[in-house]
Amino acid sequence: MNRFAVIGSPIKHSLSPRIHTAYAKQLGIELSYNAIEVPEADFEAKLAILRSELQGANITLPFKERAFALADRASEAATQAQAANTLVFSDGNIYADNTDGSGLVRDLMSSLGLQIEGARVLILGAGGAVRGVLPALLHQNPKAIHLLNRTPAKAQALVDAFQDARLSLFNEQTNTQTFDLIINGTSAGISGEKPKIPDSAFNRDSFVYDMLYSLNDLTPCSEWSREKGLKFSDGLGMLIEQAADAFALWHAGQRPNTQAIRDELRAAQP
Ligand code: ATR
Repeated sequence: MNRFAVIGSPIKHSLSPRIHTAYAKQLGIELSYNAIEVPEADFEAKLAILRSELQGANITLPFKERAFALADRASEAATQAQAANTLVFSDGNIYADNTDGSGLVRDLMSSLGLQIEGARVLILGAGGAVRGVLPALLHQNPKAIHLLNRTPAKAQALVDAFQDARLSLFNEQTNTQTFDLIINGTSAGISGEKPKIPDSAFNRDSFVYDMLYSLNDLTPCSEWSREKGLKFSDGLGMLIEQAADAFALWHAGQRPNTQAIRDELRAAQP
């Protein structure tokens, strides 16, 4: 039986085993998929063992950059992101991919029916999560993507790294235009903090997408959006779609239908 796992720290509450098991059942594939917690200092040593025991792994916080660094070969998405959320182990090699961006884009476009082409997009945050999704978002031809981060120098470093005329820093002092899509890519919500989105950035048609998700409550970002009367979504759909992309990579392109697991997990939400 083929074996897979999600590796991270913390990992206890990961939904990935449930999602991959559901996909496998749907497609009649036998596999095992576990969540493996690895202490921060031990990632490389543990992966050296797991790579011979598993056929593939999902990598989550805080190891995505270190996983990319261990790869022998990498997809364009992983290379642009300098981070991997999906590894394939075969013939003694590690292949790295990053399906976070494609997962986000599919959730935005197919599930939520949003148009990215021509849209003005504001992204909060400038860490690994944002870096990981920027290539896929830019690929959809938005009109502009502005980055707003607590530490502006980190946002500037991302703008410099991508060298794309559509990507720039958000400037609260000079901003006059609202955004069609606002994506929260900060980790502030984990500690219960609502996002700081300036009034000048949104109008009543703006859509707010939180890359964080919660099964039990609204995320702080979703709460903020509801208070402002804006349409919003958390990142559960992104998790489901990035998993489907990883699944297809591991199983010869067999792509699960994501609707059933989406319905099942959404039913548990408030
Ligand atoms: P990740 O891999 O989740 O992106 P990260 O690389 O540590 O993790 O980045 C976290 C992001 O969330 C950063 O943009 C961070 O802002 P700074 O660059 O200023 O650190 C942002 N962030 C974390 N906590 C925040 C808070 N309380 N308010 C605003 N932004 C926050």
